[in-house]
Amino acid sequence: MLNDIEKVLVSEEEIKARIAQLGEELSKEYADKNPIVVGVLKGVVVFYADMIRALTVPCQMDFMWISSYKGTQSSGMEIRQDLSNDIKGRHVLILEDIFDTGRSLDFTVKHLLERKPASLKICTLLDKPERRDPSVTLEADWVGFTVPNEFVVGYGLDFNEHYRNLPFVGVLKPEMYS
Ligand code: IMP
Ligand code: MG
Repeated sequence: MLNDIEKVLVSEEEIKARIAQLGEELSKEYADKNPIVVGVLKGVVVFYADMIRALTVPCQMDFMWISSYKGTQSSGMEIRQDLSNDIKGRHVLILEDIFDTGRSLDFTVKHLLERKPASLKICTLLDKPERRDPSVTLEADWVGFTVPNEFVVGYGLDFNEHYRNLPFVGVLKPEMYS
């Protein structure tokens, strides 16, 4: 698995340190708000597990599973599994693994706003702004790391369901997906 990686883009230590910082910011923002922290499966699970433990304020967990991502191009969107909580009037924090074209976050946000949450904010581990779809005007409220326009794997991110369990974010050797 490690042999398939061209380079490490964000190390385990860098991720850990950034999550601690984000944890402080998010804990301030959400003090006394008892937010519902929504994870968009599956890529977010690793970040979610670490991020939620950096929150020092009460919160609840919920998950959505939308579409499937095959290969290096985003595909169409569908809700495979919806939230189990009613978010009406609640403060909602979406955690995402990567804000790429933005189509999936845009889809998720529109879907959640229909349910009239008290607030809806986004924290993404990675942001790849160069890939943003021009139709997406949405912005993340918190970004862990801005990454260049390269296909990344690890720390929850996959290529054809592989590499999610790498503890860092790395770039795959191009021959692995060409
Ligand atoms: P979107 O293009 O912003 O809609 O991103 C959709 C989903 O594609 C993300 O949540 C990731 O799961 C996946 N994705 C986007 N870019 C990458 C990447 O560089 N590596 C692995 N997965 C990615
Ligand atoms: Mg994802």
